[in-house]
Amino acid sequence: MSTTETKFWTIDPSNVDSLQIEEAAALLRDNEAVAFPTETVYGLGANALNEQAVQGIFAAKGRPADNPLIVHVANKEQIEEVVTRIPQMAHKLIDAFTPGPLTLILESNGSCASNVTAGLSSVGVRIPDHPVARALLQTCRLPLAAPSANRSGRPSPTSAEHVYKDLNGRVAGIVDGGPTGVGVESTVVDCTGDRPVILRPGGITKEDLEEVVGPTDFDPALINQEEKPKSPGMKYTHYAPEAPLWLVEGDLAFLQRQIDQLQQNDKRVGVIVSQEHAGHIQADEIQICGSRDHLNEVAVHLYGALRSFSTDTIDVILCESFPEYGMGYAVMNRLKKAATQVITQDK
Ligand code: TXA
Ligand code: MG
Repeated sequence: MSTTETKFWTIDPSNVDSLQIEEAAALLRDNEAVAFPTETVYGLGANALNEQAVQGIFAAKGRPADNPLIVHVANKEQIEEVVTRIPQMAHKLIDAFTPGPLTLILESNGSCASNVTAGLSSVGVRIPDHPVARALLQTCRLPLAAPSANRSGRPSPTSAEHVYKDLNGRVAGIVDGGPTGVGVESTVVDCTGDRPVILRPGGITKEDLEEVVGPTDFDPALINQEEKPKSPGMKYTHYAPEAPLWLVEGDLAFLQRQIDQLQQNDKRVGVIVSQEHAGHIQADEIQICGSRDHLNEVAVHLYGALRSFSTDTIDVILCESFPEYGMGYAVMNRLKKAATQVITQDK
């Protein structure tokens, strides 16, 4: 694709400048693609009602056309404008968790451009909880299709610098609103059946959802890799750092042995570890991603840690494993997708 001149704005989320928001909203109304912060990760937004505008997102990201986009709206009324109906369980979830890191899959009424839903009869909708995203949605008065603002396959961006690295010259604008809060993407919940089904784990945990709507299933593809995922995006390579990532399931001594063996073979090794383990590990580069006791913190730092290693200085990245409950479930889902291999210690 040809290069575009990218405009930048720096906006303080605690004091949103309406003139700058108006400039970014004007580009969106002109059917251009603009990246902006949400509470999960940065999104690359465009007018969800216009096929050409949406095409601009796919082109800038290099995204496969069969992977549908999430439609971001300002409020529940705007959800009603793009779906046939809101079932009872979806009402409960919207009231309990939005604005917030939750995407609902509902039956589409066909108002969005057909490339938003990649030809599916359903549409993903979400009300983001970030002052900049909310101000943009309210000002442009459009539903915005917005995937994560990374080049396809790369880790999602949790800062405007990450977006700049991937998309400068490929999009009309980037709004810098500082680092994002949650760090992993929204939880995608299919509400088109009798029971809610989690298609992608994320910022709202299964435990949180069940408190509001009762028994909630995981898409079988999240548990068994042989199953075809219901969310088209879940089948692609994702979140990949520059160097190959090995996910290590075992104790600290086992992790250190893997590092030592690689180094003996002249490999430069980067590691991603919790703060509890950092002082006990030796490697060429170490990134601390928060505490094992606070998996929310690990989520916040995960993508930044994956992006921090360059192949100029590192040949292989090793990452410790985290418990698979609460936010740990989303963290491990992303790590397994990003990893080129999983190394498990013999019991
Ligand atoms: O937190 C987030 O959700 C971020 C921010 C920017 O809002 N967005 C995001 O979008 O992660 P993206 O495009 O990177 O991931 C969207 C996921 C993909 O796995 C896609 O396949 C799935 O949602 N999805 C979208 N529409 C769907 C639909 N109608 N049915 C099933 N899955 C759908
Ligand atoms: Mg993405």
